[in-house]
Amino acid sequence: MRYAAITGWGMAVPERVLTNADLERMVDTSDEWIVSRTGIRERRVVGPGDSTTSLAVAAARRAVERADLTADDLDLIIVATYTPDQFLVSQACLVQAQLGGTAGAFDLGAACSGFVYALSVGTQFVRTGCYERILVIGADTLTRLIDYTDRATCVLFGDGAGAVVLEATDQPRGLLSTVLGADGAGSEHLYIPGWATLVPESAPLVQDAPGTRPGLRMNGNEVFRFAVRVMGDAAADAVERAGLSFSDIDMLIPHQANLRIIDAAARQLDLPREKVWLNLDRYGNTSAASIPIALCEAEAAGALADGNNLVFVAFGGGLSWAAGVVRWGTEGVCRDRACWGAEAKAGADGPAA
Ligand code: ACO
Repeated sequence: MRYAAITGWGMAVPERVLTNADLERMVDTSDEWIVSRTGIRERRVVGPGDSTTSLAVAAARRAVERADLTADDLDLIIVATYTPDQFLVSQACLVQAQLGGTAGAFDLGAACSGFVYALSVGTQFVRTGCYERILVIGADTLTRLIDYTDRATCVLFGDGAGAVVLEATDQPRGLLSTVLGADGAGSEHLYIPGWATLVPESAPLVQDAPGTRPGLRMNGNEVFRFAVRVMGDAAADAVERAGLSFSDIDMLIPHQANLRIIDAAARQLDLPREKVWLNLDRYGNTSAASIPIALCEAEAAGALADGNNLVFVAFGGGLSWAAGVVRWGTEGVCRDRACWGAEAKAGADGPAA
């Protein structure tokens, strides 16, 4: 059996901090309201010189270095984002331009569920024997599309990027199960308008015309209800598909959107708070970046041990959801470049024997 172990990880957030006190000066809100309804105390927001590209590249470089690889060693780069710096070219190509190498590169759009979707796609490429080493990035700079006069949304989001490197192993490491879901009928509850909705077909291309600025539109109550419903179910499903029970789970690493949503998911898995990694108080909701950032911080804090079973679970625009059990550690990964010979290259042409 082939698996796809996580052998490198890295994160990057902008330096600029936006606290609840700052928001109190901008809109009619309070630290007490934000903390009690969401758990968020501050978030990082892009400043001049920051972009989805700059954050994604910084996180990716750390992940690749941690894996003791170079960009030339990568077979594929997948970037989960819905805030790319350009419509054309892909965010993944913009990242690769700075990292180097000639790996295939493409973006994946599943909003805040994007990193877990991308992790599952990358894992399939490794498990089928098609590729050996894949870089998966979750990066978003949603604050560029937030209306800072709308108190219902501007308190929730921050910017950041997180990345992991996947490498082939014959031991059960990396993503052991996958649950992906979507309810497109709920798309009206959380979206950013595109050109088709902003600019009527008959209109000439306009810039800065009233109502044509893209920005996040959200029905918070509907999204909240949806998230509470799917997070616990998806996480429980992922545990079952991995052939495990709740008592086998060492850590829940959830999408960091709202503490009340996370608590509901943890209750469903019967997990105490100390087995739930939380950092939304410092970063808010960083969209596709939130799970890999939380993973990096959990590792840096010494909270992850070889063989630990982690549950990743996320929800977001789509409406979408994604979950999986990840077994931490690099057992069975060949760190010797000599073993990247003919057998590995043959894998690129079809499933390994
Ligand atoms: N400060 C003070 N009061 C506020 C604020 C604020 N920032 N925002 C809303 N309120 C007010 C409302 O106007 C309302 O006032 P009213 O009762 O006088 O009408 C009151 O607070 C209650 O509002 P609710 O919307 O019912 O508050 P709720 O407890 O549902 O919390 C929240 C709102 C935090 C947005 C919650 O619904 C939520 O977290 N939803 C999920 C959002 C989410 O996670 N989105 C990201 C998805 S991931 C992705 O793909 C982008």
